[in-house]
Amino acid sequence: MSEVVKLERHDNIAVVTVNSPPVNALSAAVRGGIFECIKSAIDDAQVQGIVLTCAGRTFIAGADITEFGKPPKPPGLAEVLSLMESSPKPIVAAIHGTALGGGLEVALACHYRVATKDAKLGLPEVKLGLLPGAGGTQRLPRAVGPELAVKMIVGGDPIGADAALKAGLIEEIVEGPASGGEAFARKVVAEKRPLRKLRDDDSKLAAAKADRSIFTNAVAALTKKSRGLEAPFAAADAVGAAIDLPFEEGLKKEREGFLKLMNGDQSKAQRYAFFAEREAAKISGVPEGTKGRNVARVAILGAGTMGGGIAMSFVNAGIPVTLIETGEEQLKRGMGIMQKNYEATAARGGIPADAPAKRMALINGVVGIENVGDADLVIEAVFETMAIKKEVFGKLDQYAKPGAVLASNTSYLNIDEIAQSTKRPQDVLGMHFFSPANVMKLCEIVRADKTAPDALVTAVSIARKIAKVPAVVGVCDGFVGNRMLAQRGKQSEKLLFEGALPQQVDAVVTKFGMPMGPFAMGDLAGLDIGWRSRKDRGIKSEIADALCEAGRFGQKTGKGYYKYEQGSRAALPDPEVEKLIDETLARLGRKKRVVSDDEILERMMYPMINEGAKILAEGIAARPSDIDVVWLYGYGWPIYRGGPMFWADTVGLKHIADRLAFYAKETNDPSLEPAPLLRKLADEGKTFASLAAPSKAA
Ligand code: 3HC
Ligand code: NAI
Repeated sequence: MSEVVKLERHDNIAVVTVNSPPVNALSAAVRGGIFECIKSAIDDAQVQGIVLTCAGRTFIAGADITEFGKPPKPPGLAEVLSLMESSPKPIVAAIHGTALGGGLEVALACHYRVATKDAKLGLPEVKLGLLPGAGGTQRLPRAVGPELAVKMIVGGDPIGADAALKAGLIEEIVEGPASGGEAFARKVVAEKRPLRKLRDDDSKLAAAKADRSIFTNAVAALTKKSRGLEAPFAAADAVGAAIDLPFEEGLKKEREGFLKLMNGDQSKAQRYAFFAEREAAKISGVPEGTKGRNVARVAILGAGTMGGGIAMSFVNAGIPVTLIETGEEQLKRGMGIMQKNYEATAARGGIPADAPAKRMALINGVVGIENVGDADLVIEAVFETMAIKKEVFGKLDQYAKPGAVLASNTSYLNIDEIAQSTKRPQDVLGMHFFSPANVMKLCEIVRADKTAPDALVTAVSIARKIAKVPAVVGVCDGFVGNRMLAQRGKQSEKLLFEGALPQQVDAVVTKFGMPMGPFAMGDLAGLDIGWRSRKDRGIKSEIADALCEAGRFGQKTGKGYYKYEQGSRAALPDPEVEKLIDETLARLGRKKRVVSDDEILERMMYPMINEGAKILAEGIAARPSDIDVVWLYGYGWPIYRGGPMFWADTVGLKHIADRLAFYAKETNDPSLEPAPLLRKLADEGKTFASLAAPSKAA
């Protein structure tokens, strides 16, 4: 009998239990076990009803992603589901935790479904660059109607048990999955309820068959934000087939779409990203079994742009925060911004109407650093000046309780130096959030020289608890993300001196899939910040300086590298900027040339990859995939390209190294010389992936 699926008989009810930790994914063993157990139950004359349930923390959370791209092992999921749906005895799926992907598809092939109150049901395959491949696109529209099915399949977000009950996806909410499922099965048997096979039930498709706009409107609303992605469109086509074609033909269409996506580059990249994110939470070099410290209360210093956003991230996860400022006025301003932010989200329907008041009640705004005393974790988000950071950490040493983790949100500064201003450097580390901190998912966890392993584990686990994606990095100027970004910034500026325009550079970068180009990003952040810092350091950047001298500070002044119409964030190319660039080049005696889009792309991306190679060689990042996580979740790198290091491997490291060497010579820029590690891998015909332990993604 199966090791991972168990069959028990309780009188006339057979209970089939999947027990394959951690998430009961549908590995070949699980598929085989379900097949055998269901078949035995069907063949057992004593059995009149069957319950399928799971042990552990969740119902089946999907196909086993590690099997994708490898030779298929029998039985196929379709075969298992066909046996279940055609069973002459009713099968009840008893769901708890997360019934996702193939897991929900298993449940949809059952005749009835019940779930616990906190269960979540969904088809998130699009998030892996796939579409549901085991009948989900055909059965879910038949269960809940095409409109909700499109939302769940094309959007990929799960729904809760209450919504599932309302939509007819489940019959009942039960207390415990196994006992509730069994009681429901007994009821079905006693009442001799007919077997409900979704494949034969077209009733919920009728409205969309008569008026296809129900379907097309739902699709249009969801694919609006799917620029560059293949899966959402293919998934929508498959749901369309459920409306247009008989079940079997729809199933065939779904299968074709699924296989095409699974073998395509986008899904490979997205599956890689799934495992990269999880891998990043595993800290290299920390003794196994190291436990984090308990964090019940958090204090945040500074209620500015970042402090406010970080505070919101914690209270959104239900963790109370003491928010500390230097004066009443600053505090009032910071609290006011958060309140407004929550109210705007509630007005859009993003959170319940009573949530703003509830969440603000979790923030205790106070003046004075001496109020950090009860915090288990303190996050400093004050001005970016070393002297101020040192002063603040000196005071934290005085007022924070022993064992509290002391984190800095600095963007660039040296955490080792900051830690020296305390007598407890083992408790000091960086937690570098990204702006807007309540939205962006990345948190670079900066491991300083003396950071204790349990402090590091605490920071990583608390970041996950507040729904951030942590990536552990080492101390260096700008850590992983900003250090690589600086290389792109340098090249984008140089390109203007050679004849490219801001809009040309930005267009290449956004066409690649980034949400914004470097110049639009500069306008958003404010050009005056860099201008002031250059002045302080006696550095010039003629074009950027000329813009600022003309009062063009970016979006905040309605003009920067672009112009902005009143109240609009849309970046419009501005002939005045072109003129200003021309004049600057003429003044400097520089000749313009035509810069191709291909060159722009190479010069935007390859220097970052080169820096990534240096970061790996220095041990600032432990794995290439950690660098990819930083870019995916901190800078909006397109998920279907996996991350810069993954993408570099697909381009080929030899090509990248050769092109960098070419540009180093052509543009007289030694900083573009291929890094030793990149050159070595390129010469050996290897990839960045070869440096890491084999990925679970195929
Ligand atoms: N296949 C293989 N491994 C999986 C997996 C899956 N479907 N889902 C999770 N895992 C692994 C993770 O890699 C992780 O392994 P690790 O401990 O070695 O790092 C472990 O299970 C625990 O996962 P999480 O850390 O993510 O645990 P959480 O409790 O935070 O989240 C979850 C649980 C919500 C189930 C989350 O893991 C998840 O979203 N999983 C993916 C769900 C999914 O996408 N399902 C669809 C798959 S595609 C499919 O079904 C195709 C079908 O249509 C044919
Ligand atoms: P900000 O200027 O918006 O806010 C800083 C706040 O700190 C101000 O409200 C100030 O009154 C307060 N403050 C100053 N000294 C203080 C003290 N001793 N105690 C308590 N509060 C004090 O600055 P912002 O943008 O929020 O940046 C804060 C930190 O976060 C900086 O280190 C910055 O480099 C970093 N950071 C900023 C990002 C951004 O995009 N703005 C992104 C990531 C990190």
